[in-house]
Amino acid sequence: MHPLPRVAQQDGRYALLVDGAPYLMLGAQSNNSSDWPATLPQVWAAIEYLHANTLETPIYWEQFEPRPGQFDYSQVDLLLAQARQRDVHLVLLWFGTWKNGSQHYMPDWMKLDPKRYFHVLNKDGEYVDSPSPLCTASLEEDKKAFTALMNHLKEVDPERTVLMVQVENEAGTWGGTIRDHSPEANKLFHAPVPPEVLKAMRKKWAPATANWEAVFGPEAEVYFHAWAIAKYVGQVAAAGKAVYPLPMYVNAALHDPLTAEVPVTYESGGPTDNVIPIWKAEAPAIDIEAPDIYLPGTKQYLRTLEVYHRSDNPLFVPETMGSPLAARFFFSALGLQAIGYSPFGLDYTRTRRALPGQADAKNAFLDPTAQNYRLIAPMMREIAKLNFEGKLQATAEQDDESPQILHFGNWDAVVTYQFRRRPMENADQKHEPLGRALVAQLGANKFLVSGMDCVVDFRPAGTPEQQKGGGVVFGTGQEPSAKIDGNWVHRQFLRVELGQYVKGVFQFERILNGDQTDYGLRFTSEPEVLHVSLATY
Ligand code: DGJ
Repeated sequence: MHPLPRVAQQDGRYALLVDGAPYLMLGAQSNNSSDWPATLPQVWAAIEYLHANTLETPIYWEQFEPRPGQFDYSQVDLLLAQARQRDVHLVLLWFGTWKNGSQHYMPDWMKLDPKRYFHVLNKDGEYVDSPSPLCTASLEEDKKAFTALMNHLKEVDPERTVLMVQVENEAGTWGGTIRDHSPEANKLFHAPVPPEVLKAMRKKWAPATANWEAVFGPEAEVYFHAWAIAKYVGQVAAAGKAVYPLPMYVNAALHDPLTAEVPVTYESGGPTDNVIPIWKAEAPAIDIEAPDIYLPGTKQYLRTLEVYHRSDNPLFVPETMGSPLAARFFFSALGLQAIGYSPFGLDYTRTRRALPGQADAKNAFLDPTAQNYRLIAPMMREIAKLNFEGKLQATAEQDDESPQILHFGNWDAVVTYQFRRRPMENADQKHEPLGRALVAQLGANKFLVSGMDCVVDFRPAGTPEQQKGGGVVFGTGQEPSAKIDGNWVHRQFLRVELGQYVKGVFQFERILNGDQTDYGLRFTSEPEVLHVSLATY
């Protein structure tokens, strides 16, 4: 019997333990309607092409409980069998009461009884396309169905093929209204804020009789809706966890982390960064609040990673874009000890038109993610372990190509991105920020170094005034140096080994020297891993 997967915490860092050791989910999420016997072959083919180790795919309530109380386990069983054949793990997405804010995945016998399984009401007393979190009839049905799913997994999955379960999908309410305006909701909205919410939102000074508007002003409605939904989802999760305690998470349709967004224009009530404490307080059975990142800007993307990487919340990116420019952010997430990463919609069920100059439209959509995973998959366990131990740092190129310094005790790793603009090559080519780098300390003077579209060099540690070199050096004759105790100390490469990880062991292939190291350690889009030993003179 394999131990249960679990989220572990050590010295402020998190890891997902699978078979008792840190594991990095190299994930891909299928399209919404791909989890059917007819389409799974197109999903698995993509997973294999990607070198992904985990498939995220939905369990549809409408398929799972076609008649009240009758559960159909056939699709779950098929998924488990096919995943095991391919040695791939699963994250199951419970498309239950909420899917992108609506109740579209409720079984038809629920959809046909909207009086009993009612929606949210807007200010004008009209129903909107979103389930009410105050509907106890829906809550009880969801708890029953989710518990049946977890119970079944407990019985049929001693291999722990399923690593985690997502409870609902992007719960919340889009447009139309920020919260439920039913008489019951209105009563609660005008009643005192529950003490656990005051505590979570650090409003302990508020009088115990103060209502939501009095305490939270313009944000009262969104906080109230988050409270109501978190309470509901928390109960669904707790019911399932009581029978089978797999790690569980919720995913958020984001709000822009760089602006307050008041009044609310985003999906209200979900685990957006501004209400994570409310979710933590009301849904303790949920281990992780996770961002679905589709924001367009580099700054917004990086800020989102930061706000979900909290001392009480491991970073996990269950959905994001698989585009060439976004692929580099996988490394930014690794730099914040992400336990997993999973671009959305990476299967072959959607036909794609080739863009001009694209030979292979079928895989163009997968290639940026495949590049990342081809590099990391052979050393996934080592990367996860080094990260959990606090020995790994990773980063991605900013829009302005600025260099980045990663500090490691006596050494600084200097990451630069300008080498693709060498004067006589590609002079008129537009520079796109694609760079990413990863450095992990293996010993006092020994590092694992990898990346793409970047140059990594090392410099003895010191303040900027006491350092020179490291960065773009085309034949400067100057190796990166630092002034230590009044003397200039220069970095030299003792040995730079190129190799690859096979079953957890670094297999040496050749030594790099001369042009391959004199200008820093240059990485292209090839999956290359170096072991670098440094010395000084
Ligand atoms: C976020 C949702 O969680 C996914 O299920 C999917 O609908 C994407 N948005 C959009 O493609």
